[in-house]
Amino acid sequence: MVEVRELTAEDWSDWRELRLAALAEAPHAFSSRLADWQGDGDREERWRARLSVPGAYFAAVLEGRPVGQVSGVVEPGGSAAELISMWVGPGARGRGVGDVLVRAVEEWARKAGAGELRLSVMPGNTHAEALYRRHGFEDVGPVGDELPDGGREHVMVKPLARG
Ligand SMILES: CC(C)(COP(=O)(O)OP(=O)(O)OC[C@H]1O[C@@H](n2cnc3c(N)ncnc32)[C@H](O)[C@@H]1OP(=O)(O)O)[C@@H](O)C(=O)NCCC(=O)NCCS
Repeated sequence: MVEVRELTAEDWSDWRELRLAALAEAPHAFSSRLADWQGDGDREERWRARLSVPGAYFAAVLEGRPVGQVSGVVEPGGSAAELISMWVGPGARGRGVGDVLVRAVEEWARKAGAGELRLSVMPGNTHAEALYRRHGFEDVGPVGDELPDGGREHVMVKPLARG
């Protein structure tokens, strides 16, 4: 069974372990680079600061092992929330871990009063896109951050009923 654990800044080393694994395994999926979080960039206070940005931080635990992570952050203005840093380790894929993580962020976003949940996905990341579509996100097009090759990330949005 997949369990979700909400992490605080005190759990920075658990988040760090998952995040470094994610950036090493799927560099194509993220705009952060592994190198930015290694060496001088890999410091306890930096990870604590990362986990202190207002939002929610979740780890997925499968059979007692941390296998995935995701985060939700409130967008400036507070009316929308963003889902970021989604990753499921290769050995745990296809077992509903991504579903559980999306649900955790959605539930947090609703409680935080966000009217919609947004996310950005790299062009061609079909597995991630399929996961998000299954949860009711719609692709609003290549209107996200510009990429080094001149393309743009796709933004996907899900309206959240208030109340
Ligand atoms: C996107 C991601 C979180 C989805 O993981 P997941 O929740 O386990 O995926 P699903 O349960 O929706 O997978 C459905 C099927 O696709 C397969 N699959 C999922 N992601 C895959 C991948 N990256 N490569 C190959 N196959 C993959 C699963 O094994 C499963 O196959 P099955 O039906 O034969 O069992 C995961 O692929 C991942 O972490 N990718 C790298 C990071 C990433 O892209 N993050 C999203 C940034 S927007």
